[in-house]
Amino acid sequence: MHALVTGASGYLGYPLVEQLLAAGHRVTGTSQDGEGLPAGAQPLELSLDDGGLRAGAELRVLRPDWVFHLAAESNADRCAEDAERAVLINTAASGNLAAAAAELGAAFVFSSSDLVFSGAEAPYREEDAPGPLGPYMASKAAAERLVELNYPGACVARVALLYGPQRGRHGSFTQTLVERLSAGESVPCFTDQFRTPILNEDAAACLIALAERGARGVVHVGGPERVSRYEHALAIAEAGGFEPGLCRKSEVADVAGLSARPRDASLVIERLVELTGITPRGVAEGAKAVFA
Ligand SMILES: NC(=O)c1ccc[n+]([C@@H]2O[C@H](COP(=O)([O-])OP(=O)(O)OC[C@H]3O[C@@H](n4cnc5c(N)ncnc54)[C@H](OP(=O)(O)O)[C@@H]3O)[C@@H](O)[C@H]2O)c1
Repeated sequence: MHALVTGASGYLGYPLVEQLLAAGHRVTGTSQDGEGLPAGAQPLELSLDDGGLRAGAELRVLRPDWVFHLAAESNADRCAEDAERAVLINTAASGNLAAAAAELGAAFVFSSSDLVFSGAEAPYREEDAPGPLGPYMASKAAAERLVELNYPGACVARVALLYGPQRGRHGSFTQTLVERLSAGESVPCFTDQFRTPILNEDAAACLIALAERGARGVVHVGGPERVSRYEHALAIAEAGGFEPGLCRKSEVADVAGLSARPRDASLVIERLVELTGITPRGVAEGAKAVFA
């Protein structure tokens, strides 16, 4: 198959491209400067700042069999600073890419986020209504609707909090946590914020399996366990051989100036397991992969 992966230099995109290449697929991968992709992928420099107009045109020329649309402005603070830009990159571009993929009949897997939910009624199933708390979350929730409208055959993968090894130039809180623990710093970790975290490598495998199986509609792509951010950090600290006491129990209210996040964005993943046969790793096992 020929796959187009937007955001191929990203924390999720990089391992996804690696897995596609390892399975013998041909990959065209995008980043903003055409750099930062795994060797073997055909690089494409692509900005979504025009709302995906050029991206749609490129897709029509490339005519891939599969599209994994992962590129996004995923930094919630930057989205809050410029909500209009967030809508162009995250919402309009997703809609334009979905429309182009629909014309070609290419499989389209769009990575949305567990953060589309308000956090008041977890755990969330696919049919539950989003209730975004800020501009990043709203841009992704609106993208879901636009993608489904423009391409009813698309798959909207609501991805949970990602953690894991950094394969390309983008990392996550995992890397910040490990850096601070390595320096012997005490790190505040929330006991009152809950997620169903998924290893980036496992999320990549799930998205590929969803494309292979021709999945349509919303699918929750999360880990099998609901944990607090504290419990999650502890699992990573233990797997890395760090002093667990460096993970300091704290609460959201203890930290000033944080942008709003759902208290509990846990996802039910029954549909994912049923569709793909994959049960992603739990946090203790997944944390070992951070240091493998
Ligand atoms: N990280 C999480 O915990 C998480 C959880 C749920 C859902 N998601 C979703 O999963 C997807 C991938 O997330 P990620 O963590 O892998 O993101 P990431 O590491 O921040 O990577 C973002 C990717 O998008 C590209 N990009 C950023 N701004 C762009 C723009 N204006 N035009 C074109 N490309 C642009 C980046 O290219 P450059 O390298 O050139 O900047 C990079 O390839 C996103 O859709 C995100 O919303 C992430």
